[in-house]
Amino acid sequence: MISHQTPELTEFAEDVLAGLSATPKRLSSRYFYDDEGSRLFMEIMKLPEYYPTRAEMKIFEEQKEGILKAFTDGADGLDLIELGAGDGAKTAVLIEYFLKAQVDLTYCPIDISQEANDALKARFETLFPDLTITPHTGDYFNVLSSLKNTSSRRKVLMFLGSNIGNFQQEKALEFFRSLRSVMNDNDRLFVGFDMQKDPRVIIAAYDDKQGVTAAFNLNLLTRINRELGGDFDISKFSHYAQYRPVECAARSFLISREKQTVNIAALGRSFEFDQWEAIFMEISQKYTAAMIEELATKSGFLIETEFLNNEDFYTNALWKPL
Ligand code: AVI
Repeated sequence: MISHQTPELTEFAEDVLAGLSATPKRLSSRYFYDDEGSRLFMEIMKLPEYYPTRAEMKIFEEQKEGILKAFTDGADGLDLIELGAGDGAKTAVLIEYFLKAQVDLTYCPIDISQEANDALKARFETLFPDLTITPHTGDYFNVLSSLKNTSSRRKVLMFLGSNIGNFQQEKALEFFRSLRSVMNDNDRLFVGFDMQKDPRVIIAAYDDKQGVTAAFNLNLLTRINRELGGDFDISKFSHYAQYRPVECAARSFLISREKQTVNIAALGRSFEFDQWEAIFMEISQKYTAAMIEELATKSGFLIETEFLNNEDFYTNALWKPL
């Protein structure tokens, strides 16, 4: 029998359909990272205005001794498990120091991209020939539950780079609660938070002079054109960033510069845009100390130690299960 069912949409297609059908329109920043998006993000991290990467690196370089003590206090060996490691440049600073201090250590990066894991493994094998490195490709929680009872050593889960800021607040809470549920009592969670600071510093980081952040956002429209047969005219959209100091939230939008219709073949649909209509693209949540404390408590953790960078207002917090 011939089936007339429409082919199943990918998760990406489903999310684009839901987001562009909603009011206000939205697209998810989790789809920013195709090859070009990942390349543009690397460029963002080098921009003079984009401080978070350097702020975290400075904490690792200047406070690695304290971090080592905190990680190993009450533990014989460590399994470092990194969620979404990227190029691992910051983690490498800690690993180098830990190995010199002869900590019994393994490193397990978890990423949804096999390619990212392969590249990281190759790089770390050259840098640290004696390190046991076991990358896992897949969904964080599936991988983590499979690791829960594999060893009795302390696992330190690391979620760096203020990646948590890209979650809406209730999603962040849900995420930490799920992490808690796969952790043993002696495990730890190490999280990078970008903190509230001069709003002008924050807005500059998300609206850089060279327009790299704008290109990073617009690239998602190019990705929709390529992967879903869209006909977005990129020149008819512009990037707009906003920071709301009371909510401590930076948000970015793409603004339709004119009234227009966009067709997306894979969705069999067209979407109308009014002149100056916005698509909400990304949240980058910033935190106060009180917000971090509340998030920890509500998700079942105690803040054990914090490593602060007081110039850039960035913190790496070590949480222990309550
Ligand atoms: C990956 N993430 C923490 C970055 C941030 O700061 O929200 C992504 C980014 N968006 C624009 N610039 C950087």
